[in-house]
Amino acid sequence: MIGCRIIGTGRGVPARVVTNDELSKTVDTSDSWIVERTGIRERHILEPGLAASDLATEAARNACRNAGVDPATVDCIIVGTVTPDCPFPSTATFVQRKLGAAAGGCAFDLSAACAGFIYGLSIGDAFVRRGQFKRVLVIGVEVLSRIIDWTDRGTCVLFGDGAGAVLLAPDDAPGRGILSTHLYADGNFTDVLYQPAGGSREPPSAATVAEKRHFVKMNGREVYKQAVRNMAAASKAALDANGLSPSDVNWVIAHQANIRIIEGVSERVGIGMERFYINVDRYGNTSSASVPTALDEAIEMKKVKEGDLLIFSALGGGLAWASAAVRW
Ligand code: ACO
Repeated sequence: MIGCRIIGTGRGVPARVVTNDELSKTVDTSDSWIVERTGIRERHILEPGLAASDLATEAARNACRNAGVDPATVDCIIVGTVTPDCPFPSTATFVQRKLGAAAGGCAFDLSAACAGFIYGLSIGDAFVRRGQFKRVLVIGVEVLSRIIDWTDRGTCVLFGDGAGAVLLAPDDAPGRGILSTHLYADGNFTDVLYQPAGGSREPPSAATVAEKRHFVKMNGREVYKQAVRNMAAASKAALDANGLSPSDVNWVIAHQANIRIIEGVSERVGIGMERFYINVDRYGNTSSASVPTALDEAIEMKKVKEGDLLIFSALGGGLAWASAAVRW
């Protein structure tokens, strides 16, 4: 049976950095409050005039370059995002054109919030295994700065912009590549993290804008609880499915929402924090971009070695959550 492997990773990071101190000039917050509660010190914010597909294309180009693959041979592009360039067409089709990927290949977006990248990885893995596509780009990209209420200190300090990408290809080596993926959702929690207006339920109007209903609304405490519980359970499921134990894991690439959430997952799964790659301090929460961005940094820093066992896990709006086990 054909297996599937990640053959390249890349990221796209906006140049502009906004520190906690800078934020504390516009909202009633402080560097110490944000660092203590979240671990976040700064985040990158995309400059006006650019959109999700610009960042995503940069990440995709870097992933192709690192894999030594001509973008023209990419036959499938999957973009996980809740901040697309526009409601339609998909951000993936913009990326296809900008990247110079194969016209006539497949390109689509998926909506699973912070779990979007791992959902995309699962779909891309299935495409490759059944031989439907041979060069699949899975991208997580967010420009959350465009849907954040910058006067709401409860949310604006948490998020950042960015993109991460991986390139998938067939692989025959037994026991290597994507070992398993695990996807979950619970629609009973649709209102703990969401953007109420701008869709078919509350189409954009002067009233929805005046009431700030195009911005992210969040029940932070509930999200926190659910994230620790479900990311931990999903990570354990990934280990169990492969007959592995916590001591077999070299790196956990967890969704970078908040250092305390990651610490909670570490404790529940029984994998020490030294085996979690962390970059939430420099990026904030970039939703679907966070896992592939962290993975790309870990690869670039040569922390991940051939044969290492990696666990990915993430949870976000939906609630939707997911995990994956990968043998590098
Ligand atoms: N600066 C200073 N004070 C603040 C800030 C801020 N940025 N934000 C809230 N506060 C205040 C509140 O107003 C409140 O004040 P009060 O006691 O006078 O009413 C106090 O701090 C405590 O507020 P809580 O919301 O109860 O603080 P909590 O300890 O729950 O921390 C936080 C809030 C950091 C958002 C936490 O709930 C959390 O991490 N939740 C997870 C949210 C998350 O990561 N969301 C990302 C999207 S989902 C995902 O990616 C998994």
